[in-house]
Amino acid sequence: MIPRRDTIQFVLNDQLVTLAFDAGNELKPTTTVLNYLRSLPFHKGVKEGCAEGDCGACTVVVAENYHGKLMYKTIDSCLVFLPMIHGKQLITVENLADAGTLHPVQQEMINHNGSQCGYCTPGVVMSLFGLYKNHYKPGREIIEDALTGNLCRCTGYQPIIKAAEHACSCVDTDKFRLHEASIVEMLKSINRKKTAIEIQTSTRNYFKPLTLPDALAFRSRYPSATIVGGATDTALRQTKKGELLQEILDISGIEELKYFVEDEQVYKIGSGISLEELKRHAAGKLPALYRMLQKFGSLQIRNQATLGGNIGSASPIGDTLPLLIACKAGVRLQSADSGRVIRIGDFIKGYRLTGLHADELITAVHIPKPDSSTTISAYKVSRRKHMDISTVSGGFSLQLEKNYVVEIILAFGGMAEQPKRAAETEAFLRGKPWTRATVDQAMDILAGEFTPWSDARAGAAYRNLAARNLLLKFYTETSSPAL
Ligand SMILES: Cc1cc2nc3c(=O)[nH]c(=O)nc-3n(C[C@H](O)[C@H](O)[C@H](O)COP(=O)(O)OP(=O)(O)OC[C@H]3O[C@@H](n4cnc5c(N)ncnc54)[C@H](O)[C@@H]3O)c2cc1C
Ligand code: FES
Ligand code: FES
Repeated sequence: MIPRRDTIQFVLNDQLVTLAFDAGNELKPTTTVLNYLRSLPFHKGVKEGCAEGDCGACTVVVAENYHGKLMYKTIDSCLVFLPMIHGKQLITVENLADAGTLHPVQQEMINHNGSQCGYCTPGVVMSLFGLYKNHYKPGREIIEDALTGNLCRCTGYQPIIKAAEHACSCVDTDKFRLHEASIVEMLKSINRKKTAIEIQTSTRNYFKPLTLPDALAFRSRYPSATIVGGATDTALRQTKKGELLQEILDISGIEELKYFVEDEQVYKIGSGISLEELKRHAAGKLPALYRMLQKFGSLQIRNQATLGGNIGSASPIGDTLPLLIACKAGVRLQSADSGRVIRIGDFIKGYRLTGLHADELITAVHIPKPDSSTTISAYKVSRRKHMDISTVSGGFSLQLEKNYVVEIILAFGGMAEQPKRAAETEAFLRGKPWTRATVDQAMDILAGEFTPWSDARAGAAYRNLAARNLLLKFYTETSSPAL
């Protein structure tokens, strides 16, 4: 029997909050943090713009205890269910000022006229606060990345960027630094017991195990429960499609799924790692993955979204999938009494369909280290460079010997109902010289291999052309100039 609790606890700014979800309470376990905050009398600063993670008006910061230090992360509160903040500090714009003195990020927004209508401003301020807590004198790229998830339609970004530069050029001595130790102690006391949360109301069952064995036990008892990693896909089912999510298995609190380790042959990555943390690990080790993650959603989305969630959603335009196929990655699937590793290409079965068994969870991804004769690249074609989902994407791998193709994998997203390899084109290229003439012929074969759809993002002809051109781009990046 798993020990469990039916309340959640977190620190709202500096106050310990305990929430129960009994009959007398308006709150549901699937209430979003945004709606919870706006139901309180003094937390109307946080705004709803889109309720789908696009505008950042709902940005808040959560702080987590990491070995006695607080780690600050910006998140979109419209995509977070209340139990997901159990054991964390939730920081809102109302609490940034210190006894009447504005926080440096607020003061610099005023100094640089960073606000006009003000609708986006609380979200922008919280993104600047996250930046301030994580970076001292950040470069332009880091500042822009911190603001990618915040849409401002009237001020323009230059004043906001100036505010960021000035605020983050002073040493962090804010009140959060001064009170860090006491908040850490509060979080420790909440998290001391690894007790699973099980909230049952008349309409919803919400399970939040904190260990993998508990999660697998819940999974086998409630196989139809919706698995939630970061909820950046799942929450939209509620906020946009109006679905009632009756049973949720929230695995966001399982620390043992958040790892990145390597041995001589393989990188092993826990499925619960956030994409932002994965990006940090990938820098220098998995350059194609790193570059792809630079264009993935926004910082708020990457702070929440997990690798397991990107695979589990099996979207035809899921950005990690073509690349993982090109890397010949394996997905580790685990149930309470067994485990298996399966190639990612075999795991994705169709449109948003995987081969996950009813009692399994995705627990890890294994990426073999490529040898020195292999080049791996990832490409994303989207209408905007950042904060957009792919129109067409590609994950390619090429092994050459004396400029002849020994092995090639060309995996595309956005070209079929699931991420798919261009099998005929690959077969044509194998054993051929890696030259422009061969690639020109391969591009013609590629054009006939897929029958992509047309939608608001692009027509079928555009998608076909984009796929051909990605192959050409890959060739130009991997060929020697004389050929
Ligand atoms: C504003 C915005 C921008 C986005 N931008 C991008 C983008 O640039 N590229 C892109 O590819 N996607 C993008 N997405 C989609 C989404 O963020 C990603 O697919 C993300 O990786 C999902 O991860 P998650 O942990 O939030 O998944 P969740 O929403 O928690 O889960 C998604 C699915 O995976 C299943 N699942 C989750 N974890 C597991 C597990 N461990 N085992 C088994 N099944 C599991 C769930 O049941 C669910 O079906 C965006 C979404 C938003 C809202
Ligand atoms: S309300 Fe737009 S990102 Fe949350
Ligand atoms: S100040 Fe109006 S949207 Fe940013």
